[in-house]
Amino acid sequence: MKTVVISLGGSILIPTLEKNKIEEYVPVLKKIAARHQLFVVVGGGGEARRYIEVARALGIDEGTADEIGILFTRLNATLLISALHDAAYPKVAENHAEAKKFAEAGKIVVMGGITPGQTTDAVAAVLAERVRADVFINVTSVDGIYSADPKKVKTATRFETLTPTQLLKIVGSTALTAGSNTVLDIVAARVVERSHIPLVVLDGSKPKNLSSAILTGKFTGTIVSDKKKKPLPL
Ligand code: UTP
Repeated sequence: MKTVVISLGGSILIPTLEKNKIEEYVPVLKKIAARHQLFVVVGGGGEARRYIEVARALGIDEGTADEIGILFTRLNATLLISALHDAAYPKVAENHAEAKKFAEAGKIVVMGGITPGQTTDAVAAVLAERVRADVFINVTSVDGIYSADPKKVKTATRFETLTPTQLLKIVGSTALTAGSNTVLDIVAARVVERSHIPLVVLDGSKPKNLSSAILTGKFTGTIVSDKKKKPLPL
């Protein structure tokens, strides 16, 4: 049994409440958890961003807007835990130590954000470090890390592999305001560099991409690692 930490972007799981993919992700997460210890960190999604925009329009500071974002991540985590029924530990972990403790029950551990000034990618990166994960997977709305934002720049090219140092250079120039939407935040990239835990970035719009990546090693995405050995399949 290996240990897997997944950052499941809210833009994938709950882009809007109506378009949520929770029902599709439940069997996929259960399938992975039948073979591996699984930790899932859930993002805030579209509803969080809408609230953050309203907060900003009201002149509310970024730190408080972040706190609003965190509440949404935890709400989404609660929804996922409830949909997973007995397969998940029944409470949202509110910090990394709690997540480690909950894992002793042998169930899927789900958490959201913990502290302002970062995103759930950073939460997941530190969690991967603390539980000594074999792999850290960032499930997002693009199929890997590109030389520029592929939604804005047509000539952007996708990297198959990157070293953590190259990753840092790419994400280093992005702003970190509440609700900001980059492929990985700078805090997460720094932690990936120091932990030496391989990171896989893949497109989660089809939930089966995730189980296929972990269980068969077949996926389109970017591997960030300073090791020669491929991190997937497990
Ligand atoms: P995320 O940015 O992690 O969720 O958290 P998302 O936007 O759904 O993720 P992607 O883009 O799909 O991957 C939402 C917001 O909550 C706050 C930040 O403002 C963040 O943008 N947050 C989250 C924190 O301040 N701290 C945390 O630990 C987590």
